[in-house]
Amino acid sequence: MLNLDRHRMPSKILQLTDLHLMADRNAVLKGVNTRNTLIDVLRFAREQDESDECEFDFILLTGDLAHDEQLATYEQLRELLGDWVSRCRLIPGNHDDRASIRKVFPELVLANAEFITFSEETAGWRLIGLDSHVDGEVYGRIDNTQLDWLATELSTHIAQPTILFIHHPPVPVNSAWLDRIGLHNAKALIEVVRSCSQIRAICTGHVHQEFSEILQGVQILTTPSTGVQFLPHQDELICDSIPPGFRIFRLDGGVFESHVVRLPDKPSAPVPRK
Ligand SMILES: [Fe+2]
Ligand SMILES: [Fe+2]
Repeated sequence: MLNLDRHRMPSKILQLTDLHLMADRNAVLKGVNTRNTLIDVLRFAREQDESDECEFDFILLTGDLAHDEQLATYEQLRELLGDWVSRCRLIPGNHDDRASIRKVFPELVLANAEFITFSEETAGWRLIGLDSHVDGEVYGRIDNTQLDWLATELSTHIAQPTILFIHHPPVPVNSAWLDRIGLHNAKALIEVVRSCSQIRAICTGHVHQEFSEILQGVQILTTPSTGVQFLPHQDELICDSIPPGFRIFRLDGGVFESHVVRLPDKPSAPVPRK
């Protein structure tokens, strides 16, 4: 009899973030047709999914799925994800509409739950997604109910190394305009993290750029958007012409590796606008 112990097999995870998809297929955001870039990203990620020795166990969508909060946009997203939907887990960003997500992705959302979260095990690791959306606001917040749920999840699965996924980063990324609209109660989250040694990383979106730092032994990561990119270290929003991208995690034993992959067919350095 085969021993298919998934706990001992490595796992590969794809993170897609800040899709900013719009119902109007010709709409552009900061000069970028986010539908076209998402299609390119999905095609490129699928090539990696199929060519590698193992498939993505989960595809995590970490917020700002839609830019226009339209139901039709989420329906288009579902269509674009195709047979990946069952492997997807998602959390909302500031631009999202929970009701539309619930309607279009009912199997990915807990019924009757106020927030859209997830908690999954893969290769002996735990992946937890938190909902930092605040109605009508750009900044993020995780309320006490959710922090209590997080603490319970962590104590229930205390032996599993864990990665948290949130839309809003809990630390400054050194861009004044973005740091004003991060996770406003990051201190409360950090308190929970500090009390749970199994948390190895917190990975977010929202800032449309790659960023990394270590906070109290925990790797803090942000991931580029599948569409518009923001130039790092700025006081105000300036777009970057670096290509869209995504992040891949490999979890093996107690070790994880993570890297950003960008689309190859665009210039890798900022190009002055004409
Ligand atoms: Fe975004
Ligand atoms: Fe955002």
